[in-house]
Amino acid sequence: TASDLKAILGFTVSLARKAGDLILEGSAAIQSASSESDVGEKKNAVDLVTEYDVGVEELVKKELKSQYPTFNFVGEESYSAGSRPPLTDEPTFCVDPIDGTTNFIHGFPFACISLGLIYKRRPVLGVIFNPFLDHLYTGIKGQGSYLTKPNAQPLKLPLSQPPKPLPSLSQALIAVEWGSDRTLTTINTKSNSFSRLAGNSAQGVIGGKMAHSLRSMGSAALNFAMVAQGGLDLYWEIGCWPWDVCAGIVIAEEAGGVVSGSHSAFLQSSNENFGAVTEELLTGRKYIVVRAIGDTPDENC
Ligand code: IPD
Repeated sequence: TASDLKAILGFTVSLARKAGDLILEGSAAIQSASSESDVGEKKNAVDLVTEYDVGVEELVKKELKSQYPTFNFVGEESYSAGSRPPLTDEPTFCVDPIDGTTNFIHGFPFACISLGLIYKRRPVLGVIFNPFLDHLYTGIKGQGSYLTKPNAQPLKLPLSQPPKPLPSLSQALIAVEWGSDRTLTTINTKSNSFSRLAGNSAQGVIGGKMAHSLRSMGSAALNFAMVAQGGLDLYWEIGCWPWDVCAGIVIAEEAGGVVSGSHSAFLQSSNENFGAVTEELLTGRKYIVVRAIGDTPDENC
């Protein structure tokens, strides 16, 4: 019920803040360490993991289990370690302990914990907390989404301001991500898409729309949050996992955003019809297109 979700939000927000303390501690330790020995690689040299990703997930998983023993749990690091429960209709927490691990390692202060709750296979609650900036994004399906930041008036800002329509995609600020698949075909296809968005068709870039600019923040969850906030107009990515997007879907949709794409084999999105993604829709602002891990870029990206 709505009040159950409110209570869960209260608990998960305090847990996200606790996780945030550990993330800050880890960041300080990594920045002061003389070697990079704590940084491990997953599938290749740019897909990184640290003991803090694992430690934060353990903390969060343990506390969620003791508070909500009947709820299921799926998390980035547990999944890597082989714990891959099938998604059911039961409540399931979906957690990325540190989204933006590369930023975290480099001391680029855009990393967060992304904590979502799925019920009946739909994301219903989201908490995204960036401890470096003390920015907390929360959302409950049907109850709005908010940004809480220190020293702001009001402290808790509703994210649902009506979108200001853009006259054209060419005035958009667009987030794209390089992802961890750096194979030649993928990188070439993505770079071509990026060129078409950034390039000036008058100067020979085929199909160039010349958007105001492109950004790569390095955290899928923070891209969702920034679209929700209206700082970005569009976020496009291929290669996301459910824990990258679960919390962000609720926060962005409650802020009036449209999320399109297949987020994973099991987590259904609200709109999987790529054919419907037209310039008119995009210029409605607050638009997110995210495709699942395993999808491959194509020329229509
Ligand atoms: C990744 C980041 C990155 C995005 C990838 C994510 P991680 O998550 O959000 O920006 O491009 O799709 O998997 O590995 O930092 O938790």
